[in-house]
Amino acid sequence: MSDSFRRQLRALPDFPAELPGFDPESAPADPAELFRQWLEEALAAGERQPHACSLATVDESGQPSSRMLILKNIDDDGWHFATSRISRKGRELSGNPRAALTFYWPSLGRQVRVAGPVAELSAEASARDWAERPRADGSENPDWQLYAVRPAEIEFWQASHDRRHIRHRFGPDGVLPG
Ligand SMILES: Cc1cc2nc3c(=O)[nH]c(=O)nc-3n(C[C@H](O)[C@H](O)[C@H](O)COP(=O)(O)O)c2cc1C
Repeated sequence: MSDSFRRQLRALPDFPAELPGFDPESAPADPAELFRQWLEEALAAGERQPHACSLATVDESGQPSSRMLILKNIDDDGWHFATSRISRKGRELSGNPRAALTFYWPSLGRQVRVAGPVAELSAEASARDWAERPRADGSENPDWQLYAVRPAEIEFWQASHDRRHIRHRFGPDGVLPG
């Protein structure tokens, strides 16, 4: 089993034959704008949920955990997501308010990573997010919390068939060297 599974995994498809180019020199200087551009291109390429990403958090012993969630907005507060404060991730964020987000768009061979401290947004914004859920029934959820990751680092990654994958990185004050 394990050997055939290993071989099955090795035989799975790689990136698609056609990959977009990416020239960091001509990319928008604002990472939020570049992200919006890549999200539009992911939608145009047929990605169904390009706003889905993994969220990694860490518990008090240093054990990481991650799960998928939905990006809700990007503004001066950071990259927004919402969840229950009493969920595992909510508890981990109360103990250690830092997180990492990873987006992956297979049809374009693109990945975006965002990491930094996490802030709780207002009760009003959290209630609005809860109310705007699809199929919202008018109920309230006092545990629902909107958070924002304030990026300490962002990396845009473009796969390339010659394996010279392109990494374009931003620090808190702009483009990081290297
Ligand atoms: C595509 C996708 C989107 C999701 N979006 C959210 C979300 O926006 N908020 C959320 O709390 N859970 C979302 N979930 C469920 C989480 O992945 C997770 O199972 C749940 O929040 C419990 O996580 P926890 O026990 O680690 O706190 C989503 C799952 C998937 C697969």
